[in-house]
Amino acid sequence: MASLPSFAPFVFLLLVIGSNARTLYPLPSKGGNGSRKPLQTFRPYNIAHRGSNGELPEETRPAYLRAIEEGADFIETDVLSSKDGVLICFHDVTLDDTTDIANHTGFANRKRTYEVQGINMTGFFPVDFTLKELKSLRVKQRYSFRDQQFNGKFQIITFEEFITIAQDAPRVVGIYPEIKNPVFINQQVKWSHGKRFEDKFVETLQKYGYKGSYLSKDWLRQPVFIQSFAPTSLVYISNKTDLPKIFLIDDVIVPTQDTNQSFWEITSDEYLDYIKQYVVGIGPWKDTVVPVVENYMTNPTNLVARAHAHNLQVHPYTYRNEFPFLHFNFSQDPYMEYDYWINKIGVDGLFTDFTGSLHRYQEWTSNHKDDDDKNLLHKIALLVSSYE
Ligand SMILES: *[C@@H]1O[C@H](CO)[C@@H](O)[C@H](O)[C@H]1NC(C)=O
Ligand SMILES: *[C@@H]1O[C@H](CO)[C@@H](O)[C@H](O)[C@H]1NC(C)=O
Ligand SMILES: *[C@@H]1O[C@H](CO)[C@@H](O)[C@H](O)[C@H]1NC(C)=O
Ligand SMILES: *[C@@H]1O[C@H](CO)[C@@H](O)[C@H](O)[C@H]1NC(C)=O
Ligand SMILES: *[C@@H]1O[C@H](CO)[C@@H](O)[C@H](O)[C@H]1NC(C)=O
Ligand SMILES: *[C@@H]1O[C@H](CO)[C@@H](O)[C@H](O)[C@H]1NC(C)=O
Repeated sequence: MASLPSFAPFVFLLLVIGSNARTLYPLPSKGGNGSRKPLQTFRPYNIAHRGSNGELPEETRPAYLRAIEEGADFIETDVLSSKDGVLICFHDVTLDDTTDIANHTGFANRKRTYEVQGINMTGFFPVDFTLKELKSLRVKQRYSFRDQQFNGKFQIITFEEFITIAQDAPRVVGIYPEIKNPVFINQQVKWSHGKRFEDKFVETLQKYGYKGSYLSKDWLRQPVFIQSFAPTSLVYISNKTDLPKIFLIDDVIVPTQDTNQSFWEITSDEYLDYIKQYVVGIGPWKDTVVPVVENYMTNPTNLVARAHAHNLQVHPYTYRNEFPFLHFNFSQDPYMEYDYWINKIGVDGLFTDFTGSLHRYQEWTSNHKDDDDKNLLHKIALLVSSYE
């Protein structure tokens, strides 16, 4: 905005008051956070799945910083627990595939077999290591076709460190943490006063000021979606926080870990009617929304339409740029995939390993470009607030 005539704030005040924009760019609070660029709410959310893990080892500080730099609306993480009850950001139930645990011979006797979600798994489990021990490990890339040069450089971070990364961002960046493997974690880790994993999870969010229902003023200041595959965890926390929750849905052959319900049961209209009391949306695997046969997509199911009819958002996972993940229909072009899911299927958010690609796609195709209209409105709001 180069130069505004002196009456501009008053003209804009009228415009702003007259507008019925859905979330009208909340007037900044008088505090330091108020001057940060707000979360965009006019187009599907760019959810940085495990940070920009297409480029950097997943769920590490550099992966999240990169995602923020690349335009993420939300940074996403899985939350697990150390043996001493500290919540950490880590995806797998074992350390084997994404850390250098194999090289720490001092830990060789920690290998265990546990039954997790009905399957006996063998490996090194974070729940058998204290936070201090986990911090001595270094994270590595999961996929051999991704950049290996950062292997062995970065530590596992705690849930609190993750939150701080979002809160220190130069604009409002939401967080999207998952209550991961809650049945297993509650079996393995005990907290004082009989607290459960879910209690610690919610208390951590509250400690850092996260509160309020979807799109409320408090929420827009510090946006968060709480996600879980376990419906009982989502129901359990519903009396502890009104923060928006997303019910994740696994592949068609995977029953829920807590209630042992089938995919077909939890995607039925009856179930959507029930779960919508607790959640604002669902997070299905994209290949169940549009089933895939021999790497070609078949006809879309009606899941998105039915979820929308229940006033539920749909945030499918996971979008990835690379050949092994792009179905043949998309001509090896990740932009074609985003175009399909945003404009044909009509999803409300996308979990992506390549936040930068989704951001550029949205910037190039959206009516509201993040860096002009939206910024202009924010500046207007600032001007107006100075006349209050
Ligand atoms: C932003 O708000 C959070 C939580 O209310 C607070 O901890 C943090 O210090 C604030 N940051 C600035 C720059 O004021
Ligand atoms: C383990 O150590 C070997 C030999 O020093 C090295 O080549 C390898 O990259 C290390 N592996 C990990 C996961 O750090
Ligand atoms: C896991 O292993 C234990 C001990 O060998 C066995 O009792 C149990 O049935 C196994 N569980 C599954 C799901 O295979
Ligand atoms: C939440 O609180 C209400 C009212 O106190 C109670 O009826 C309900 O059972 C509680 N729900 C859960 C999931 O604890
Ligand atoms: C889960 O449900 C399936 C199908 O109804 C049943 O065969 C299986 O025994 C159940 N598993 C558990 C752990 O209850
Ligand atoms: C994907 O390509 C296959 C093979 O050409 C075609 O049958 C199918 O309809 C396409 N799917 C979508 C969703 O366009």
